[in-house]
Amino acid sequence: MTERSGKTVQLSDPASGRSAALPLRTGTIGPAGLDIATLPKELGVFTYDPGFGATAACESRITYIDGEAGVLLYRGYPIEQLAERSDFMEVAYLLLIGELPTAKQLTEFTANIRYHTMINEWLKRFFEGFHHNAHPMAMVSGVVASMSAFYHDTMDIHNPRHREIFAHRIIAKIPTIAAAAHKHSLGQPVIYPRNDLSYTANMLHMLFAVPCEPYEVDPVAAAALDLLFVLHADHEQNASTSTVRLAGSTGANPYAAISAGVSALWGPAHGGANEAVLAMLEQIGTADNIPKFLAMAKDKSSHFRLMGFGHRVYKNFDPRAQIIRAMCHKVLARLGRSDNPLFELALRLEEIALQDEYFIERKLYPNVDFYSGVIYSAIGIPRSMFTVMFAIARTVGWVAHWQEMISDPAMRIGRPRQLYTGPTRRDYLEVKQRR
Ligand code: SDX
Repeated sequence: MTERSGKTVQLSDPASGRSAALPLRTGTIGPAGLDIATLPKELGVFTYDPGFGATAACESRITYIDGEAGVLLYRGYPIEQLAERSDFMEVAYLLLIGELPTAKQLTEFTANIRYHTMINEWLKRFFEGFHHNAHPMAMVSGVVASMSAFYHDTMDIHNPRHREIFAHRIIAKIPTIAAAAHKHSLGQPVIYPRNDLSYTANMLHMLFAVPCEPYEVDPVAAAALDLLFVLHADHEQNASTSTVRLAGSTGANPYAAISAGVSALWGPAHGGANEAVLAMLEQIGTADNIPKFLAMAKDKSSHFRLMGFGHRVYKNFDPRAQIIRAMCHKVLARLGRSDNPLFELALRLEEIALQDEYFIERKLYPNVDFYSGVIYSAIGIPRSMFTVMFAIARTVGWVAHWQEMISDPAMRIGRPRQLYTGPTRRDYLEVKQRR
């Protein structure tokens, strides 16, 4: 039986006669959080929430999501306004620092990133250890973790200046590492970053340039990638960000924590979905095959899911998906690829799915991964690199959350409990006694 009086919720268990007055923590917007820290002591029970769908794991001031209303705010600014009027470097500063930069602050921040894009020549050798067909996410997570072997002089996580240097280094170098992974898979030489290019123009330059001829970055492609990076930069306590927080809460070095985030993002239920969407669209092939695939998505025994659909939090349109869908029309037209069959198929699939009772009832809408691959493809990025692009952008969010957690004096190591359903205590049997 519960009652909510002022700032506490009274829980009582008639069976044991025990009760607990649990403090109610309220944020600036969104649901309050019932502080259950004393529950085991006062009521002798844990809460049970596999997948943490109803659990606020921390306090954060970085990103706010309202899943029912389809709202996404970065430090209070609506994603639609940032997508329209900002760019990735400015959004990176906003997420890390908490305020939009002045012109001087943005120039300084951009320079700090721009002049740290090269990676140690010995770090480049790590790629030679990978087979040529290694997935780039495997290479990126491995090489990012190895960065701690090169920067041990600035790894005091309680030193704010060391944390700032780490933030600049990892945000600056992850595109170079990502591009080097791609070049390794092609058997081509790694292309050095250029300090005269913007963050995303440099990314495209390192991905597509070759030493034998000049390479001109398409400004339309660079702008499209910049917008995709803005949209993917952060998303509250998603699985990979929670992984970074949990790994970082042990005091592990920040490169190891970010590498753990890269690995968590790789899963097809998370950031790996953008790569899986393209594979699914190619598998569907034509619109007349859509009903067959929708039927599979509704048949639990098929284990097939409509990739790019559904979300743990959004039970309405993912605002990022809507922005990317609109962007597809513009970018494809400007790249001269308006008749993109994959995009047409994705639009048709969305239209049919959103009229289907199964998807309507479960509030399954396209998420950020549903259309992003159409743009990555159109600007020439290979499917195996789609999730790597997501990781590059999300590195900003991971760093922001890691910094927020580490700089909190109240930080404790994360250590969830469980509901034990295994055998009760029993004594060892010698092998000859076993049946
Ligand atoms: C990202 O958390 C974040 O913020 C993530 C992210 C970020 O920016 O960090 O937004 C990025 O990861 C987006 C999600 C990308 N993943 C996919 O597109 C993979 C396909 N989607 C799903 O697997 C699924 O929707 C999840 C993983 C995204 C969400 O899973 P939930 O919240 O655990 O939902 P669920 O599995 O409990 O599904 C509820 C119901 C189930 O049916 P019933 O048991 O009620 O009959 O909806 C069904 C599910 O079977 N369902 C789907 C479906 N997604 C959910 N059925 C078919 N196709 C789907 N895609």
